Amino acid sequence: MSYARRTHHLKPEGAYQVLGRAQSLEASGRKIIHLEIGEPDFQTFSNVSLAGIKAITQGMTRYTPPIGMKSLREVIAEDAGSRRGLEIHPDQVVVSPGAKPNLFFPVLSLIEPGDEVIYPNPGFPTYEAMIQVAGGIPVPVPLLESNSFSFDLEAFHRLVSDRTRMIILNSPSNPTGGVIPLTDLEQIAAAAQRHNCWVMSDEIYARIVYDGRSVPSIAALPGMSERTIIVDGFSKTYAMTGWRLGFGIMPRDLANVVQLMLTHSVGSTAHFVQVAGIEALTGPQEQVDRVVTEYQRRRDAIVAELNAIPGVTCQRPEGAFYVFPNIQSFGRTSSEIANLILDEAGVAVLPGDAFGEYGEGYLRLVYSNSLENIQIAIDKIGKVLQLL
Ligand SMILES: Cc1ncc(COP(=O)(O)O)c(C=O)c1O
Repeated sequence: MSYARRTHHLKPEGAYQVLGRAQSLEASGRKIIHLEIGEPDFQTFSNVSLAGIKAITQGMTRYTPPIGMKSLREVIAEDAGSRRGLEIHPDQVVVSPGAKPNLFFPVLSLIEPGDEVIYPNPGFPTYEAMIQVAGGIPVPVPLLESNSFSFDLEAFHRLVSDRTRMIILNSPSNPTGGVIPLTDLEQIAAAAQRHNCWVMSDEIYARIVYDGRSVPSIAALPGMSERTIIVDGFSKTYAMTGWRLGFGIMPRDLANVVQLMLTHSVGSTAHFVQVAGIEALTGPQEQVDRVVTEYQRRRDAIVAELNAIPGVTCQRPEGAFYVFPNIQSFGRTSSEIANLILDEAGVAVLPGDAFGEYGEGYLRLVYSNSLENIQIAIDKIGKVLQLL
């Protein structure tokens, strides 16, 4: 059987592959600590779940406009705008089942075959996949450990050109937890304007930042809102990964095109899920703050413990729930080390190259797990690495 060329580059996400292997070990009786899947370990807040359940019992189980319910888009425009210092009109908001369609459909709407798209490497694997499906040319820009995993700006300036149609940013980042500083965003924004290209700013971890900081959005810089697509959602902030609720914020004309894409693909986002989304944004936010405080405690612990393993160095990420320790001193590939850690220590982690070639030499660990499990896991990892 032959498949259309646009599918030829598609690969499974590394996280699901490692999860599959970990689960088959569990099926054979092994105890595994999971630090591979990037989702919160706590439950959806009960006020949000109850709002969804109530919506179902009230019959909110119908189609909605493909672009999303007006009442939810109004709440998103207000909340997302005030957090970023931006004036956002509800017509700019496109609701989708999870954030992913708001990555994929704007790319399909804007990228012609042969257009170059700059994106972070190591980075979320969907970026490369969607560029390739659109027929674009993926242009990876390395993230620099020495610059808190922000873009390697020298490489960026070398690679950006009039052939660039879009620049994809992700801050805080999956897989590094790095945050792009304002000064770097200013340089990227100037280049985007000089070369007349779009910016897609994946800000899905924008609420999960530490030490009282907030993450700047490139969309808030002068002249940028008309060329930026902000991608965000409920999966990480409100522990709603399985509900599938995300959104994009973009110029109205583009929102109308993306709405057509949704119309002819997913149709619309589940009605009652959107009602739960309104509750998430308008209900108490202290529960988000509490969770972020807990993540910060775990981040501090995991970074300290990883750095105490001889041969491992680990930056202190400013956001998301990932650490990306450097394991180059062991002289093995990150896949070899991740496999060894799963087989010998019973801890599931991802090799850095699951996020692109510049992730080689690193591992990605998710610390959305109990402090106790994290401590046991790092202790076991240390014992395995010391035998190398
Ligand atoms: C950087 C990044 N963007 C987007 C997504 C997708 O989010 P959703 O599950 O809401 O589609 C993820 C999920 O892991 C992510 O890490």
